[in-house]
Amino acid sequence: MPEFTKSDKARADVNPVRMLMFKIDGRDVTAREDETILTVARQNGINIPTLCHLEGLSERGACRLCIVEVKGAPRLMPACVTLPRQDMEVITNSERVVGYRKKILELIFTERNHVCSVCVSNGHCELQALALELGMTHVHYDYIYPRYSVDHTHERFSVDHNRCILCQRCVRVCDEVEGAATWEAMGRGIDSRVITDLNQPWGTSQTCTGCGKCVHVCPTGALSEKGKSVAEMTKRKQFLPYLQMMRREELR
Ligand code: SF4
Ligand code: SF4
Ligand code: FES
Repeated sequence: MPEFTKSDKARADVNPVRMLMFKIDGRDVTAREDETILTVARQNGINIPTLCHLEGLSERGACRLCIVEVKGAPRLMPACVTLPRQDMEVITNSERVVGYRKKILELIFTERNHVCSVCVSNGHCELQALALELGMTHVHYDYIYPRYSVDHTHERFSVDHNRCILCQRCVRVCDEVEGAATWEAMGRGIDSRVITDLNQPWGTSQTCTGCGKCVHVCPTGALSEKGKSVAEMTKRKQFLPYLQMMRREELR
């Protein structure tokens, strides 16, 4: 067995990471103390639906679709930002959890104008796919029908705020991967909006490099490439894990 060097030991003393055991849906699982419930569930082949989470980006805990039940806890917890504790018991698919997930999804649909039949992302949309997965056939709440703008000022891309679900993937990828920090979130609650460069039209942005990463991580048709018609916009986000790996290597 290889021996620890002095520097390994020093590192471990400064930054010890403990392992712990807990249960997900009755199964015993092992985790590092700094891994989220979502990460551990996926490592063990347990499906928890997500929308704002994206492998390779920091967590925002914005959509609440990943809620799970923790035995003894009064509230449901978002799995993507909750760390497990020793002997914790997590339930991912109880009637209560599934019911709340559906309600959350319905509310997301009512807050903006998601008209799939005329959307560039029809058939390639994560929100639409989740509605199918959760068996959502209609909503039980009144639609708000807000009147949001569409910004076509960028040379290659468009943003349609009517289709935005405020997941902030665009904000995070632009900041954490591209390093441009063009996107930001403005406002509160359902009046929030993503904006570019202190709420200037995207096409006049001094910081945007035109890389398109925000477009390809956007789960809906809110961000799209110009020239795409109904159902033609497919997203390519496979680049993320590779970029994250390269960045980790650079920091070593
Ligand atoms: S195109 Fe690239 S730089 Fe421009 S806003 Fe999107 S992610 Fe940021
Ligand atoms: S524009 Fe797309 S990626 Fe950005 S917050 Fe809205 S839905 Fe999410
Ligand atoms: S995926 Fe966990 S809150 Fe959105």
